[in-house]
Amino acid sequence: MTEGPVDPTTTDAWSRLTGLAQAPRADLRDALTTSWVEQQSLDAADLHVDLSKNLFDDDVEAALLALADEVDLVGRRDAMFAGEHINVTEDRAVLHTALRLPREATLTVDGTDVVADVHEVLARVYAFADQVRSGDWTGVTGKRIQTVVNIGIGGSDLGPVMAYEALEPYRQDGLSCRFISNIDPTDAGQALTGLDPETTLFIVSSKTFGTLETLTNARLCRTWLLEHLPAGSDPAAAVAQHFVAVSTALDKVADFGIDPDNAFGFWDWVGGRYSMDSAIGLSLAVAIGPEHFADLLAGFHAMDEHFHTMPAEDNVPLKMGLLNVWYTNFLGAHTHAVLPYSQLLHRFPAYLQQLTMESNGKGVRWDGEAVGYDTGEVFWGEPGTNGQHAFYQLIHQGTRLVPADFIAFARPAYPLVDEPEEGERVDVHELLLANFLAQTKALAFGRTADEVRAEGVAEELVAARTFPGNRPTTSIMAPALTPAVLGQLVALYEHVTFVQGAVWGIDSFDQWGVELGKQLAQELRPAVAGDASVAAEQDPSTQSLIAYYQEQRR
Ligand code: F6P
Repeated sequence: MTEGPVDPTTTDAWSRLTGLAQAPRADLRDALTTSWVEQQSLDAADLHVDLSKNLFDDDVEAALLALADEVDLVGRRDAMFAGEHINVTEDRAVLHTALRLPREATLTVDGTDVVADVHEVLARVYAFADQVRSGDWTGVTGKRIQTVVNIGIGGSDLGPVMAYEALEPYRQDGLSCRFISNIDPTDAGQALTGLDPETTLFIVSSKTFGTLETLTNARLCRTWLLEHLPAGSDPAAAVAQHFVAVSTALDKVADFGIDPDNAFGFWDWVGGRYSMDSAIGLSLAVAIGPEHFADLLAGFHAMDEHFHTMPAEDNVPLKMGLLNVWYTNFLGAHTHAVLPYSQLLHRFPAYLQQLTMESNGKGVRWDGEAVGYDTGEVFWGEPGTNGQHAFYQLIHQGTRLVPADFIAFARPAYPLVDEPEEGERVDVHELLLANFLAQTKALAFGRTADEVRAEGVAEELVAARTFPGNRPTTSIMAPALTPAVLGQLVALYEHVTFVQGAVWGIDSFDQWGVELGKQLAQELRPAVAGDASVAAEQDPSTQSLIAYYQEQRR
């Protein structure tokens, strides 16, 4: 590993890339030859990734790979896998990859074999999941658990809820999950509506066990439970049967009143947004069962192996991360769309927002020097085809460059067939896939004015109906959305995020930027509650908003 972060703008490769960005580039209509498509169609575990419709060529690729060399990306990657403290500002190892190492592996970090620890907790997670699924674990009145409510926020919510939705076909009948995250009491209010306390189990998920939202919601749920259980239920026994916790702070779990036997630990070397494959995935493990959860972990591991061992030219996360740097720093893109052609992945863009933006939304390098270049893009997206009828207009014909990742699966979760009264039967998944292909084709090749004229369009409408093309996309396909494939997808983006952060020389594993708002919220709470002296200390805008609030609540 290098001593300190390299300022990437001082590298030869950065200068080359600057020149290449200004040079004329071949139109994708000409550039997309069979040999280029073969060269840029790569397999990573079960994922088939076509990078060919991106705005680059051999020269750009060579310069991007040279940039990776000059910032010692491989050294930093290997340091991560080895458990070095690459999270510099928190002085921690970054070892989410250890969460999915097979049982027989060993990895000693700071004097401890972390793989043994991981599998010890995993065995407890699986045993607990089996107990709930089989009905051996009951509520305090002896009834089988039917609903698991995960209480957590950020990384303690987004991963579990995204995967719970994505793996819906793998869930056990008669057992469902709900998720409470927001401090808006509507969230808890809605999630608890209609629940039977006798058959509800709460999982309080919080790495720190100090997060305002989660602890408040956990207390709300505890009160709700004790108020709604049949009269005479012993409160301590009720909490013991209906509350379990996942945290790195097991002492605080005990203080909350949760039996330490019902607590599942993890470690400070797992970042919140990298934690869905730790015990934070407990709700998911209950929903889909240990076997499928193990498949998910195996999928993560397969992608880790790919990232760790593949040569640069065939290394999918490496190349996707470098392309993102190309778009961000040389072609002026500010955002990146993720467009799953899978309704089951409807929470995937939201999940990626935390992963990518909390990781790479930084303005200083890991030695504290200010960066002199753009970092983290804004990630966003919605499933296709819904997005097509909402925001694709801007991607096709707007003035902004929006690189987009399209994700699709060969086999549908619901193989439904449309049988119109007249005409052919249609496999509806084929319609979805046709749209997936059509969009990346339209974005790449557009439609020229002459082509529009040839369709007989009136001259005054030709400009409005012309598509410029050369809009970059990456197509990611897999046989089906299985637990293993989901693990591969998540790990792919974890490593893409890592690559970008390593080039930018930033610490992708801290999140100091969320602290100020938390602190100010605590300071402002008395003012919101009516303390005029605290209100008077605020800036004029905040004072005026508090006054409006007070007026409305009167
Ligand atoms: O506020 C940001 C954050 O710290 C995230 O990084 C984290 O995933 C989330 O809050 C929840 O934190 P915890 O799991 O400690 O409750």
